[in-house]
Amino acid sequence: MYYYLKKILFQFDPETAHAVTLKSLQIAHSLGLTQFFPTVSSQPCTLMGLTFPNRIGLAAGLDKNGDYIDALATLGFGFVEVGTVTPKPQEGNPQPRLFRLPEQEAIINRMGFNNKGCDYLAEQLRKIKFNGVIGVNIGKNRDTPIEHALDDYLHGFRVLAPYASYVAINISSPNTESLRALQQAGLLKSLLKGLKAEQMLFAERKKYVPLVVKIAPDLTPDDVEDIAEILLAEKVDGVIATNTTVSRDGLENVPHAMESGGLSGKPLSAYSTAIIQQLSVLLKNQIPIIASGGVMNAIDAAEKIAAGASLVQLYSGLIYHGPRLIQACAAL
Ligand SMILES: Cc1cc2nc3c(=O)[nH]c(=O)nc-3n(C[C@H](O)[C@H](O)[C@H](O)COP(=O)(O)O)c2cc1C
Repeated sequence: MYYYLKKILFQFDPETAHAVTLKSLQIAHSLGLTQFFPTVSSQPCTLMGLTFPNRIGLAAGLDKNGDYIDALATLGFGFVEVGTVTPKPQEGNPQPRLFRLPEQEAIINRMGFNNKGCDYLAEQLRKIKFNGVIGVNIGKNRDTPIEHALDDYLHGFRVLAPYASYVAINISSPNTESLRALQQAGLLKSLLKGLKAEQMLFAERKKYVPLVVKIAPDLTPDDVEDIAEILLAEKVDGVIATNTTVSRDGLENVPHAMESGGLSGKPLSAYSTAIIQQLSVLLKNQIPIIASGGVMNAIDAAEKIAAGASLVQLYSGLIYHGPRLIQACAAL
């Protein structure tokens, strides 16, 4: 069925197809039709103090503002991550900013954190019926200087932690200038110290909300070593490996491949898995790894788990293979 749907959707430009798909899913949900979706096998696991009905989650960026959580949850995800949101709403980059590379089963995006802001997402989270695991991914506004990045992340945490199962700190989008500099040892340490202090304050008042850091695939082995050391020292609860890549190796002469932005999908998979493998050795099972990057079939998901991941997120794979991918991966 998705085979035919995809043929129609791929006639539209990618951003329109995205909007049409999510709106259609929401309508199907409101008409009660999603109850007829196939069930996804349940294989519960507990990590970061949270119980996941299965290991397969939705990656950040597909539902940035939390407008579609209840409808998306009916597809059988073990967890849903929304965002990235920033303290103030922002438009993101001018269109076109999203490109398909169909032969490569890849996507390039330079959305630039287009989102309706933290308060809007909090409002959506107050209204949802879904009571499974919700990750909330936060970032900084484009016009916030890097020296003040912590203020933006603290704001995001304060507004959204009350509604989140975990909060993901996005320091790895390639589409916000200098954001990735926050992965450098000095900056990362102070960012995480600030956020851990806020997490502890909130834990005393209300509940412990795990903090998860999302990193880039374009890191050297030395960078990964430094990051792992800091994640352990600061007692971070989880790490998402990885975001999109700025590499275009092997994509010479492919239409759209030289568009600026982050590349996701099949060509990202190997970079992402290499980071997971290295992290797995360095973190010694003390911090769970959430895989993200190029999971296009169940074998890819199994590879991520074999490399050391405990959970697996999907994005581009859903665009190319549809929601059956969730069932296939969850059945592992
Ligand atoms: C259109 C698009 C928008 C994205 N937006 C975000 C975002 O806002 N925050 C984030 O952390 N990751 C974002 N991502 C990255 C995905 O969450 C994921 O980490 C990445 O695409 C790799 O997984 P994949 O190969 O399965 O797509 C985005 C990806 C795409 C394709």
